[in-house]
Amino acid sequence: SLVTTAELVAEAAGAGRGVAAFNVITLEHAEAVAAGAEAAEAPAVLQISQNAVSFHGGRVLPLASAVAAVARASSTRLSLHLDHVRDPELLRASASAGFSSVMFDASTLPYRDNVTATAEAVRWAHRHGLWLESELGRVGGKAGEPPLGAHAPGARTDPDEAAAYVSATGVDALAVAVGNSHAMTERTATLDHGLIDALRRAVPVPLVLHGSSGVPDGELRAAVGAGMVKVNIGTALNVAFTRAVRGHLEDDATGVDPRGYLASAREATALAVTRCLRVVTLPS
Ligand code: G3H
Ligand code: ZN
Repeated sequence: SLVTTAELVAEAAGAGRGVAAFNVITLEHAEAVAAGAEAAEAPAVLQISQNAVSFHGGRVLPLASAVAAVARASSTRLSLHLDHVRDPELLRASASAGFSSVMFDASTLPYRDNVTATAEAVRWAHRHGLWLESELGRVGGKAGEPPLGAHAPGARTDPDEAAAYVSATGVDALAVAVGNSHAMTERTATLDHGLIDALRRAVPVPLVLHGSSGVPDGELRAAVGAGMVKVNIGTALNVAFTRAVRGHLEDDATGVDPRGYLASAREATALAVTRCLRVVTLPS
């Protein structure tokens, strides 16, 4: 069923568990998340990023409607989230496109400008019944951004600044930089668990971990145990998806029906979803 992200995050936070949010680029990604979540008997967030909307010609409705329909048809609870939005026009489009939540990303702006832009986005979102997540500190690693290593200066969220930021903006959840980085294809990230603990104590709203594909299982369990609630996973699904397509095409050099390799990709992605959910949603 299609539920709200607010419900899933509040439930996970209350139970001391995590809730995984998976990035969706194609319909097959959404079907894989639903199948993987059903197999794990866990809820999950389906998230479409601004980059994914750009891939679909800048139009949000075709993919969002299809993904919402997949969620409605599912036997598990799934929500629809708009991820890493920078474009104010896309933010406004989200209200009528089936999303219950958005991540407004002003993280590359200086602190004051991030506060101003995010506070305005929060006022708009709350008027339209949307839950809003934003980011303080630079997680980095997103396509089109200057490279910023997870250990570069500025790539850590300061707990006191985070507390001031949350009260100045009114955000419902906060994405933080704690050693995580986007788009890692190897699981080699080392998180700063002391900082996660300090942030959880300082910040009154649920914390969000971006770039979780690069985080090993043990680190992920520890992060959730220390109070990380929403866990965003994108690249790990694409690694599974693309590896399966490559394998399929290597074995079948003459087939032309995309359903062959897309079915392989969807199956491999669903298995990756189930594996991630077993780590994120089980209490540590
Ligand atoms: O917002 C999306 C997530 O942070 C995904 O990051 O692709 O590195 O797992 P990832
Ligand atoms: Zn992210």
